[in-house]
Amino acid sequence: MLQTSRLAADEAGLSEAAAILRRGGLVAFPTETVYGLGADATNAEAVAGIYAAKERPSFNPLISHLASLAAAQEQGVFDATARQLAEAFWPGPLTLVVPVAPSCTISDLARAGLDSVGLRVPAHSLAHSLLERTGRPVAAPSANRSGRVSPTTADHVLGDLDGRIDAVLDGGASEVGVESTIVACLGGAPRLLRPGGVPREAIEALIGQKLETGSEGGASPLAPGMLASHYAPRAQVRLNATRIQSGEAALLFGATPPSGTQSADATLNLSENGDFKEAAAHLFSYLRQLDASGASTIAVAPIPEAGLGEAINDRLRRAAAER
Ligand code: TXA
Ligand code: MG
Repeated sequence: MLQTSRLAADEAGLSEAAAILRRGGLVAFPTETVYGLGADATNAEAVAGIYAAKERPSFNPLISHLASLAAAQEQGVFDATARQLAEAFWPGPLTLVVPVAPSCTISDLARAGLDSVGLRVPAHSLAHSLLERTGRPVAAPSANRSGRVSPTTADHVLGDLDGRIDAVLDGGASEVGVESTIVACLGGAPRLLRPGGVPREAIEALIGQKLETGSEGGASPLAPGMLASHYAPRAQVRLNATRIQSGEAALLFGATPPSGTQSADATLNLSENGDFKEAAAHLFSYLRQLDASGASTIAVAPIPEAGLGEAINDRLRRAAAER
């Protein structure tokens, strides 16, 4: 149980909030849409903390918040349409999903292993000051527990997350009250992934074309080849492996490796200490590394279904099922 502090909307509160984010803590902060639960997007363990605090049973890609378009362009590749939308609607309640830039520092856990990234420059002045002081992209889903409504005041946030996060920056009530509109610009026609604070009509009027409609990233994942499809390994994935066969790649968890581990083609341990946050932080990059080893099967040791283990197992079950 953490002591959650309520920070005032002043110089001292802002510096404290930025300091907490920079050292890997969790700070809820106001945006013009809803309060976000922020973590340093470049720090995968901090991002894992978001999922733990929200008790979210699956990993979906998170929106990373930035202070300016220039900062966003270090993280993602903006085509002409994305640039036009950013220039018209940022700062504001619009999120753009764009391909990751080579200079992207956002962790793969925040991107749920995807090669694209969700970026937003919020209009709220406190959010803006916090992002400037933090100097890093800040991943932030709505600051509520999974399955509850999105919070528009610091009291709502505390009602759900008191004792589970480091602090809430209290900036009064959010104005818009619904989440940002999400538009994907991934080559081809721009696609509306989620309706929100910027009306579809305003976007279509600006770009002079209709937005395609597609399903939201986290909501209905996994028709293969779909835009929002999560990273799927090329190798087969075998779960709850209590014995590793020779030629398999092994993804381990905890101190006791399954029998046969010494004959594995490649071995990585998500967390030798059995720490779920550490395991979540490693999950996507280890899957990719083991996939790259060339083994035809990745055998995954049993991982307990507790805390973040649920989200980790959910992700692994999808990896085992996706073909
Ligand atoms: O108003 C908002 O957008 C609030 C405030 C706090 O800024 N934030 C918010 O964040 O709603 P979040 O992380 O809950 O939004 C996640 C959604 C995912 O479900 C997915 O639809 C989309 O953002 N998303 C993010 N990155 C994506 C990606 N690379 N590909 C597809 N969808 C993505
Ligand atoms: Mg939400």
